[in-house]
Amino acid sequence: MKNIVVGVCGGIACYKAVEIVNQLKKDGYNVNVIMTKSAQEFVRPLTFQVMSGNIVVTDMFDPIDHWDTTHIDLAKNADLFVIVPATANVIGKIASGIADDMLTTTVMVAKCPVLIAPAMNSAMYENAFVQTNISKLTDNGYKVLQTKEGLLACGDEGQGKLLDWEEIVKEIKESIEKENKYLRS
Ligand SMILES: Cc1cc2nc3c(=O)[nH]c(=O)nc-3n(C[C@H](O)[C@H](O)[C@H](O)COP(=O)(O)O)c2cc1C
Repeated sequence: MKNIVVGVCGGIACYKAVEIVNQLKKDGYNVNVIMTKSAQEFVRPLTFQVMSGNIVVTDMFDPIDHWDTTHIDLAKNADLFVIVPATANVIGKIASGIADDMLTTTVMVAKCPVLIAPAMNSAMYENAFVQTNISKLTDNGYKVLQTKEGLLACGDEGQGKLLDWEEIVKEIKESIEKENKYLRS
């Protein structure tokens, strides 16, 4: 069984990650979810725990009762790492080599392909620093998915909407089945 680590960040599109985890589990993948502290303000870990059938990793310094959920083990065992929704904050942290929580630390350890699905307000998405950070990730072999244009949850219109979850699942499955499709050098 292939292992997928799903990193969930604190954006309004968090609930769409629930559908993605649900579908991946139904499709026979072992899914481990890591949530940032902000993500837990939007969706409770319990939802992802039920959908994935695995304990959700929420804190770097939780007592370790399952050795296979440390950042090193999750990263080593992953066939694919997906960050959805990816906030401007986490994109910036990864691009800057910052590892100050479980998600950014684990993704730093991971040698498997990493798919990043951004979602944010259009002004954030178009911000020069965010665009520079996305380019840095792309240049270093991370696969950053496009966003959609449309009406955003905040009421603004423009780029920055998360792709439809079905499309993200398709990308994930294509990537994991075509071995090393997005493997970084
Ligand atoms: C209601 C609400 C919605 C938000 N939506 C987004 C979003 O879609 N994308 C984003 O990058 N940040 C969004 N933020 C801001 C992030 O939650 C904030 O930058 C946070 O520090 C991100 O933490 P994380 O990257 O560790 O998950 C939102 C904040 C609030 C209060």
